[in-house]
Amino acid sequence: MNVLTTIEAMRSASRAAKTAGKRVGFVPTMGALHEGHLSLVRSAKAQCDVVAASIFVNPTQFGPNEDFSKYPRAFERDRELFAKEGVELLFAPAVEEMYPAGAVTYVTVEGMSERLCGKSRPGHFRGVTTVVCKLFNIVEPDIAFFGQKDAAQVAIIRRMVRDLDIPVEIAVCPIVREADGLAMSSRNTYLDLQQRKAALVLYRSLQKVKREFESGESNAAKLAEQGRKLFAQEPSVRLDYLEIVAPDNLEALDNIESSALVAVAAFLGATRLIDNFILLRKSVA
Ligand code: PAJ
Repeated sequence: MNVLTTIEAMRSASRAAKTAGKRVGFVPTMGALHEGHLSLVRSAKAQCDVVAASIFVNPTQFGPNEDFSKYPRAFERDRELFAKEGVELLFAPAVEEMYPAGAVTYVTVEGMSERLCGKSRPGHFRGVTTVVCKLFNIVEPDIAFFGQKDAAQVAIIRRMVRDLDIPVEIAVCPIVREADGLAMSSRNTYLDLQQRKAALVLYRSLQKVKREFESGESNAAKLAEQGRKLFAQEPSVRLDYLEIVAPDNLEALDNIESSALVAVAAFLGATRLIDNFILLRKSVA
């Protein structure tokens, strides 16, 4: 595996692969890798000839009081994991390489960026779209792989790619969970034992909404209320939001016709976790 730290080196390595007729798959990450990240690499391996990945803890997507400085960094371990999975190109730039002095240009997907996590994390999605747009310009991948874990991120990146005519295909991979249902996240390492247990309420609330939906309820407000109720039983967990929205534009839904995204975010102490589930109404033909 080749580790590249400059934009120029990364771009020429990727271009060399493409010139040789290879399809380049790209997996952007912030490191502190777990099975969720590695599942993206495996999908990329299956669909592309060369897999490029990036590790970059992107400062512009963290708010001033968020965990940028304490975000887990484990470069040597991550490098080994990526190498073992068959990543050929690893882009790991320094902050100054990505944001040289005087960098003042941002990409904003208006409206969508203020929904769900964008409401409680102002500026977060602007940071995500800016860095992902830059990474696409640097790596120029054929296909980029993202996790359904960050459902709003996927919808916003898809819209950016469409609106800015970026020549990349977006592939989305399912959420990888721990055995008890907790969605894997680099932030799970912040949880103590009691919080780790309490964190399951996110998954339980989604399961509750799913059951109610499957037994015939399709009013989004009623379904969301059913899910929110579960948080009353976990006083140590502070619900940020549980919302039911359209998966493509993240707009609130009144009634679920065919599909809906149920998204939840909650704080355990200072740790903020998210999870989601897609509801699908099977059409009766
Ligand atoms: P990060 O949180 O490191 O996640 C990198 C990718 O892994 C994202 O596409 C995310 O959705 C996916 N992922 C994380 N946990 C997952 C899980 N349990 N199952 C499946 N996929 C999972 O998301 C980011 O980094 C950043 O915002 C980034 C896109 C790299 C831009 O900085």
